[in-house]
Amino acid sequence: MDLALYHPAAGYYTRNRTVIGPRGDYFTSPSATPLFGRLLARQLMDFREEMGYPAGFAVVELGGHRGQLRQDVLLEAPDLAYQVVEVGDPLPAGLVGCFLSNEFWDALPVHRVRVAEGRWQEIYVREEGERFADEMGPLSDPRLEAYLDGLPVAWMEGYETTLNLQAQEWMVQLGQCLERGFVLSIDYGFEREEYFSPHRPKGTLRCYHRHTLHDDYYAHPGEQDLTAHVDFSALIEAGRQAGLEPTLFTDQGRYLVGIGQELFAEIAERTAGQFSRERQAIHQLIHPSLMGSAFKVLIQKKTS
Ligand SMILES: C[S@@+](CC[C@H](N)C(=O)[O-])C[C@H]1O[C@@H](n2cnc3c(N)ncnc32)[C@H](O)[C@@H]1O
Repeated sequence: MDLALYHPAAGYYTRNRTVIGPRGDYFTSPSATPLFGRLLARQLMDFREEMGYPAGFAVVELGGHRGQLRQDVLLEAPDLAYQVVEVGDPLPAGLVGCFLSNEFWDALPVHRVRVAEGRWQEIYVREEGERFADEMGPLSDPRLEAYLDGLPVAWMEGYETTLNLQAQEWMVQLGQCLERGFVLSIDYGFEREEYFSPHRPKGTLRCYHRHTLHDDYYAHPGEQDLTAHVDFSALIEAGRQAGLEPTLFTDQGRYLVGIGQELFAEIAERTAGQFSRERQAIHQLIHPSLMGSAFKVLIQKKTS
């Protein structure tokens, strides 16, 4: 997954082709509407105010891709210092401000595991002629064992899921690099009980290719997105190890209604009785059957 997405020459995200938007493989909130950035700008300015306008307050966006969200935030809040971190860029140390991300965590490579012959085993990748195929083997890292310890789905022969060790490492690193401020993460995912639910026996690893969702992980290597839902409980626990305390975990819909009331009221009034792309975009972001409940918002805070 790491090579398919991030190989320097052939990786899906590193090959420099269009992957997000109408001519790519999938949409994200910033690619769908500038309103998303306008709303987040308000949140970032609130963070700055809550911290007492410290000198050097800055926003560092993880996985900011080609800078769409940055551009939209800066239109609303032009005086924010805002840096995008992409694959291979170092993280700034001693940040006073906010680490922000949209759909960053779901793009990190995961380990695949399956219950086979009564115990957790790892799914490795082997070559089979011109293609790749699954190969079962022992767990490759003791942290996987600790992660899986005690999960009731261990009794379900054939149960498959994914574990994201890199996400935990990243979160610890963010806690260490943040001197004071916030980590604001927006992504699709669940808390642990739901993540490892018996109702999800094939896990959440998915592929996006030209706006089609499928689960043929080995098709089109380097030309399709591979993504897994986020285990937010694991992110919260990893953050705690590095001094990040969760202050909010909620659905994107509820969250945006909370921070966007004024803007939504202004748009509703201005566009009443007309077709409005802005109202359509708000609907897309907050309706529970669209992005409002699948996407979650986690805010963690470090005070010193
Ligand atoms: C699903 S895309 C989301 C892009 C953008 N945030 C948006 O919402 O449209 C995931 C992004 O995370 C970036 N990414 C993945 N691993 C990364 C890493 N280790 N460091 C920095 N960026 C990374 C990818 O290159 C890609 O741009």
